[in-house]
Amino acid sequence: MHVRKAVLPVAGWGTRFLPATKAMPKEMFPIIDKPVIQFIVEECIDANVENIIFVTGRHKRPIEHHFDINTDLEKHLEECNKTGLLENIRQISRWINPIYVRQKEQLGLGHAVLTAEPVVGEEPFIVSLGDIVVEDGSSVIEEMLSIYNKYGRSVIAVFEVPQEEVGKYGVVDAVHLDGPVYSIKDLVEKPSPDKAPSNLAIVGRYIFTPRIFEKLRVTKPGKGGEIQLTDAIKLLLEDEQVYAYKVENKVYDTGTPIGYIKTIIDIALQREDIKDEMFEFLQDIINKHSQCIDI
Ligand code: UTP
Repeated sequence: MHVRKAVLPVAGWGTRFLPATKAMPKEMFPIIDKPVIQFIVEECIDANVENIIFVTGRHKRPIEHHFDINTDLEKHLEECNKTGLLENIRQISRWINPIYVRQKEQLGLGHAVLTAEPVVGEEPFIVSLGDIVVEDGSSVIEEMLSIYNKYGRSVIAVFEVPQEEVGKYGVVDAVHLDGPVYSIKDLVEKPSPDKAPSNLAIVGRYIFTPRIFEKLRVTKPGKGGEIQLTDAIKLLLEDEQVYAYKVENKVYDTGTPIGYIKTIIDIALQREDIKDEMFEFLQDIINKHSQCIDI
């Protein structure tokens, strides 16, 4: 069955980024001049996703405003003859007809995905996490779709991380099939480096068969009392094969202060309009700091 829908869970508290996330969703933090969530929406549009379903919460209204029409702003830009900006603003609000589903209580990522069930129905669907940016992300979704089309089963994007960092991620125990494709045997949440079955960590991009909903409904609260998506995938593995797709693209986790800063710097160094000035600035401060710090 054709994959038409993407679920973007954006309802989390963002506690790792408090107090910044007290009144502002982390998904709206700017990567220079574009909010994180726009990168993820653009990735879906470029991969020809037809429906974008945001799983949102009462403290996430700025996301809805961002994808809505702002007639006052458009009028202002028109009057000032700022045509480039006007075009950009118009495009964002007319790209998609978003669907918003409320997660009334933040009971975890698995619960957020389950909240979208009435809108997704009996169809395969994409899940893209609202705080993970993937370089050239649409190509990742397209590759995952072709694996889904071949096997008709769920596909999870993974990437290689240094062995000593596996404890920060969900990690797969998988058998290599062909090229970037693996068959998953098991998943382990935040393993210690000496016990990890591999260094292939889950990225935050998934394609699921609708059977995941059946599993999410019976998933017991796990770590932190939350309904974990990885626990539901483990249950899914009892019934269905699940595949992993190893991405070579850069993965940016904007959900932590250090991950966010790294994302901004890396993306700034790729932007034609600012990269030279940014590079000089970085070189300069590194020189200054290395005189004070023993590096
Ligand atoms: P995270 O675990 O990174 O987000 O979930 P969080 O819970 O907001 O962050 P911390 O741990 O408190 O700092 C990944 C994505 O899933 C969404 C988040 O908004 C984020 O985009 N999420 C998480 C939900 O939609 N609902 C939840 O109950 C939990």
